[in-house]
Amino acid sequence: MRRTTFIVIFLSLVFVAFAQQLKLPNKPDSLHFAIIGDTGTGGRAEYEIAAKVAEFRKVFPFDFVVMMGDNMYGGQKPKDYEHKFEKPYKALLDAGVKFYAVLGNHDDTNQKSYKLFNMGGERYFTFKPREGVRFFALDSNYMDKRQLEWFENELAQSGSAWKIVFFHHPIYSSGGRHGSDLQLRSVLEPLFVKYGVNVVLSGHDHFYERIKPQKGILYFVVGGSAKLREGNARGAEFTAESFDTDNSFALMEIDQDTLHFQAISRTGQAVDSGSYQRTVTAKKQKSE
Ligand SMILES: [Fe+2]
Repeated sequence: MRRTTFIVIFLSLVFVAFAQQLKLPNKPDSLHFAIIGDTGTGGRAEYEIAAKVAEFRKVFPFDFVVMMGDNMYGGQKPKDYEHKFEKPYKALLDAGVKFYAVLGNHDDTNQKSYKLFNMGGERYFTFKPREGVRFFALDSNYMDKRQLEWFENELAQSGSAWKIVFFHHPIYSSGGRHGSDLQLRSVLEPLFVKYGVNVVLSGHDHFYERIKPQKGILYFVVGGSAKLREGNARGAEFTAESFDTDNSFALMEIDQDTLHFQAISRTGQAVDSGSYQRTVTAKKQKSE
């Protein structure tokens, strides 16, 4: 009896510890997902972040993970896919969690055909995890005319209230190493605004940064899930919050018109959290 009581108390404490760390509403009916970026080192930090992501899934049951690119540094042979992705993320893969990747500058284009990245053999693709929410995955290495036309067409056709776009190179970042890709911004931002994109996720700079909404759109940099560029999030006029003293990942939850977010460090600390009300509505298309 005493032993049972002890176990109950112990489990309650564990639950409370997690509940304190989790800053999201965690409603059973809302959409839950995780974000990792620049993961593919095969090093210790990648494995530790992966373990932490899996640990958080026990209390925040997300169905899928979006990957911001640089999924694989260095070699990209079958053994690298194992060591730099399948092994660290084994617990999540075994649990049936889906990963959706985009290509970073270190990634071999062949990754698009790797089944567990769910890219369907394409450099850019979309998926709709539930009614009203669509993700658009882009290849920011080569933002050619064909991709832009495809993207605009997909945006125009989408009736989803939530439009979330992700690609490797951030168009808003205070990173000293890379920072904002202004060329990319000049071609993408007008489309985001025109078609009512709500949230944009990127990586490349090896830290976490949340940008104040720009033209109503919320931007995140999640590029520190294995590599870390300490002190490199220099902060800019557009910076809302940043974290560059340890590796990190993020969790998000969409509950009707509100997106809740939380960034978490390698040690499980909540380093940013908040919510964003969807205000941008796609302009009605003229087509009858
Ligand atoms: Fe990169």
